[in-house]
Amino acid sequence: MSTTQQYAISEYHNTDEIYARLKELVAQPLRPIRRDRMQDFLRYFEMQCVRSKALTDEAKQYIPGGVQHNLAFNYPFPLAVEKACGAYMWDVDGNRYIDFLQAGGPTVLGSNYAPVREKVFELLQNCGPVTGLFHEYELKLAQLINHYMPSIEMFRMLGSGTESVMAAIRAARAFTGKKKVIKVGGAYHGWSDQMVYGLHVPGTGRREATGIPRGASAHTQEFFPNDLGHLRRLLMLNRVRGGTAAVIVEPVGPESGTRPVPRDFNQHVRELCDEFGALLIFDEVVTGFRLGMGSAQGYFDVKPDLTIFGKCITGGYPMAGGVGGRRDVLMRFAAGIGGTGERAYIGGTLSANPLSCVAGYYALLEMERTNAAVIAGRAGDRLTRGLQQIIEKYHLPFVAYNQGSIVHLETSGVMLLDMRHPIKLLRELKPRKHMIEEMGAAYMSQGLITLAGSRMYTSLVDTDDVIDEALNRFETVLSSVEGVT
Ligand SMILES: Cc1ncc(COP(=O)(O)O)c(C=O)c1O
Repeated sequence: MSTTQQYAISEYHNTDEIYARLKELVAQPLRPIRRDRMQDFLRYFEMQCVRSKALTDEAKQYIPGGVQHNLAFNYPFPLAVEKACGAYMWDVDGNRYIDFLQAGGPTVLGSNYAPVREKVFELLQNCGPVTGLFHEYELKLAQLINHYMPSIEMFRMLGSGTESVMAAIRAARAFTGKKKVIKVGGAYHGWSDQMVYGLHVPGTGRREATGIPRGASAHTQEFFPNDLGHLRRLLMLNRVRGGTAAVIVEPVGPESGTRPVPRDFNQHVRELCDEFGALLIFDEVVTGFRLGMGSAQGYFDVKPDLTIFGKCITGGYPMAGGVGGRRDVLMRFAAGIGGTGERAYIGGTLSANPLSCVAGYYALLEMERTNAAVIAGRAGDRLTRGLQQIIEKYHLPFVAYNQGSIVHLETSGVMLLDMRHPIKLLRELKPRKHMIEEMGAAYMSQGLITLAGSRMYTSLVDTDDVIDEALNRFETVLSSVEGVT
C-alpha cells in the first residue's frame, strides 16, 4: 500500500459486478438465520440487556416510539448506551460492542477522541457554547475547509445536513431563477418537505410524504439510480416547465453507496448540469472528509457548484451542517449590507456556534495529521475482504463491498427493491426488511453494532485486531444462516 495514498478508497469497486451479484441475491429466496439460532441470539437481549429494556420501555411513555433517532436500532428493543471510547461502546448493562455505527458516520477519529474533546473543554471554560456573536473559530473552520476543498470558496454553517440541503436548494433557485430540483431515486438528503420524495425505494415519489402538502414537493423529481438517460429526459422536459435549478447527488451513490455508481457517473452528471444550466449539488454529508481531506469531489475530481456538509464537519459534536461552494451562489445567503441581489433567507439560533466550530476545526486538523480517512479506509478494506471470505466459505448469496470506510453487507437485498418491479416490491419489502432487522439483532448479540444490519463505518481506531475480532463475530452469525451445513 502506497504511503502517499490520499483517499480512503484504495481501489474503485467493479460496479457492474456488484450489481450482478445484488441482482442474483434479490432473485433468490431469503436466507435468514435458522430459527433455533435466532432464538439463541434473541435470548442474549432478554438475559444480558435487562436495564436497556427497562429504560427504553419507560421511554416509550415519553418519547414517540421510545427512541429519538432512526438509527437507534430497535429490534428486539433499543440498547441504552452509557459509554463510548475509540472503537467500542458499552451499554448500561456493561456489555461491550465494537462500534461500526459511528453515530451514523461523523466519528472518523473514533468515539470521544481526546485531543478534540480537550479543545472543546478549553473553549467551554472561556466562552461557553454560544454567544450569538462572531467567534474566530467560524473563520478558522471556513478557511480550513477551503484549504482542503478549493471548490468551497465560501461556507455557511448550519445545524444539520437537512437544513443545509434546504438552504442549498433555496440558494440554487434564487441564483438560477429556476424551480425544479432533481434527485436520485432512493437517496436520502434529510427530511425537509421537498426531499421526502423517492425515499429509500426508487420510483416511490411521495410514498413517505405523510404530513407534507403536495405543493411542497411539486418541483422535486427523481431519476432512477445511474440512469443518465432518465436524468437527461427530465432536464429536457424541465426546460418548458420552469427549468432545473439543481441536481443533487451523493457522489458514491444513494444511501452512502448502497446503490453504487460507476466511477465516471459524477463527471457525466456534471456535464449534463452544464448543458442544461442547472447547478450541481454534491451531498457530502457522509463522504465529506470520510473519503479523505478532499472528500468525494477530490477523489472523483469533479467540481460541484454547491456542497452539503454534515456529520464529520464537527467531528461528531452537535450542530453538524453547512453549505459551501461558489462565491456568487453563496452570496445569496449574505446578511446585511454586503448582500447581493435577492437574499435566500436562512437562519438558526445555534448555527455556527463556537463549540461546533472549534470541534470541527480541530477534528479536521487531527484527521489530516493522523491520515484518519486512509487508515479507516484500510480497516474498511480488511473488513470487506474478511466478509467476502466468510461469504465464499459458506457459499452464501450475500454481497460485501466498500467505498473505503463505508462498508456494505447486503444479506436480504431490501435496499435493492424498486418500483420498476412493483409486485416484487409489494410482496417482498416486509419480509426482506424483517430479515435485515434480525441480522442486525444477531450481530448486536455478538457485540457488533452496525447501521441497520447492512452498513458499517470504520474509523482510525479500527486496528487489524479490532477488525479480526469483528470478523470472528460476523462468522458466528453468518454461519448460522439457513442452508449452511
Ligand atoms: C447523504 C445524507 N444527506 C443528508 C443527511 C441529513 O443530515 P442530518 O441528519 O444532519 O440532517 C444525511 C443523514 O444521514 C445523509 O446521510
